[in-house]
Amino acid sequence: MTNADSIEKRIPIWFDTDPGVDDAMAMALLFAIPEYDVKGVSAVAGNVELDKTFENARNLVAFFGRKDVPVYKGAARPLFREPRTATFVHGENGLGNMTLPASDAPVEKKPAWDALYEAAKAAEGELVLVAVGPLTNVALALSKYGSLPKLLKEIVIMGGSAKWGNASPAAEANIFCDAEAASTVFQSGVPITMCGLDMTLQTTMSPAELDRMGQLNPTAKFLRDAAQHGLAYSQAHGVDGMALHDPTAVLWPLYRGDIFAGEEAGVAVETKGTITYGKTVTDLYSDKQFPFKNAFVLLEVDKEKLFEAVTDLLKRY
Ligand code: RIB
Ligand code: CA
Repeated sequence: MTNADSIEKRIPIWFDTDPGVDDAMAMALLFAIPEYDVKGVSAVAGNVELDKTFENARNLVAFFGRKDVPVYKGAARPLFREPRTATFVHGENGLGNMTLPASDAPVEKKPAWDALYEAAKAAEGELVLVAVGPLTNVALALSKYGSLPKLLKEIVIMGGSAKWGNASPAAEANIFCDAEAASTVFQSGVPITMCGLDMTLQTTMSPAELDRMGQLNPTAKFLRDAAQHGLAYSQAHGVDGMALHDPTAVLWPLYRGDIFAGEEAGVAVETKGTITYGKTVTDLYSDKQFPFKNAFVLLEVDKEKLFEAVTDLLKRY
């Protein structure tokens, strides 16, 4: 296994999240990649309320052996609309109602958007932001700090879709939670990679594959056990497995074209529609193009290579 010291130029990463079961798996992968230098983690309201996503993020960081990484609290609600949770997938506590030991790391008092900005300044334009929840924290940071767009090398989001919806027929859950925040992010001028449903719905892990993953070690077993609540919900709705939505966003900065494929596109977020609120409108399937190309939209994934990477990384615990 490569260790961090033998790597010339590590990638400074900030991870914004609403844990969340797939967020938890994504975080496990994040900390298993020696090429990543994780500068901070920030919690946002999303899958469950902020107090729970913040506690889950703290406890997961400790569980993965990385109490050296600070965890910050972010927004308790979207910029304008009412909060909506996804406890039907992630359980009341956000981790499939599995419990973790409480972290004894100091509780950071600085708000997430201030901590993110300071990390971006310190990284001198090299910071890669991976955001796998509603984009409220990111929008607040961009609104408060006018120089932030120049300080972010890339924003990788799990969110959106060119063709699909999982929160409504038009919209993906993270965008649907806070479309105004997402619109701010897509208009920020920062290079964006959109790990949306077009690609993530190709990553469904079957119950048997989850069970095999759970046999790797206690960390993987926790992730497999936490997935059971959402798996039952998926199976009750005709999908026999769990999509690795958030893990794909964590793998993108390192694996890129080795595992994924996509296209440059113009993407705009619908914030006014009653039926289409939260839709990421792309010009991928239109002869009418937007006058901008602001995102690289992932459309394909080599599922076998993805699962191989997930297994190799989880084996490191
Ligand atoms: O649509 C899937 C996304 O919504 C994932 O980030 C999941 O954790 C939920 O936040
Ligand atoms: Ca998430």
